Amino acid sequence: MERLTNADGTEYWNHAYVSPLESENVQARCIKCHTDLSGFVHDIQDKMEARTIELGYALEGLTNSLADVVASGAYTDEQLADIRALNRKAQWYWDFVFVENSEGAHNSKLDNNCLDKAEVFIHAANVLLEQL
Ligand code: HEC
Repeated sequence: MERLTNADGTEYWNHAYVSPLESENVQARCIKCHTDLSGFVHDIQDKMEARTIELGYALEGLTNSLADVVASGAYTDEQLADIRALNRKAQWYWDFVFVENSEGAHNSKLDNNCLDKAEVFIHAANVLLEQL
């Protein structure tokens, strides 16, 4: 919460919950380096959200393909073990980004690293699926 001063000079804690991007007090502390903080953060978030959605569909495709292969009953657990492991790893890294709730604003490098890993695991699993 922000410490503010009213017209009488009395200090108080601001209990109005708003996004930091909408708080003039927060923005005043950031403007020295971020002339357009809101635009800067929304740009990070728009790109991260687009990438998260794109990889989410790729992950859904992989999961559905794996489910079809399992349902076919034509393969043993041993044959599917590596694909299942890759699918779980991809899901874990994707989930981390999906649930961290800042769309990359808090640590875009970490989020992009996680999505990079998810992408590699999805690709590797799809290659193994094609080789069954
Ligand atoms: C002294 C300069 C400076 C100040 C003051 C400053 N920042 Fe930054 N901030 C930076 C730099 C440099 C980066 C890295 C930019 C890049 O990677 O392109 C950054 C990055 C960020 C990011 C992106 C983080 C990420 O992981 O991509 C956010 C969000 C951010 N700042 C918010 C704020 C907020 C909110 C404030 C005020 C409370 C603030 N900054 C004050 C210099 C500053």
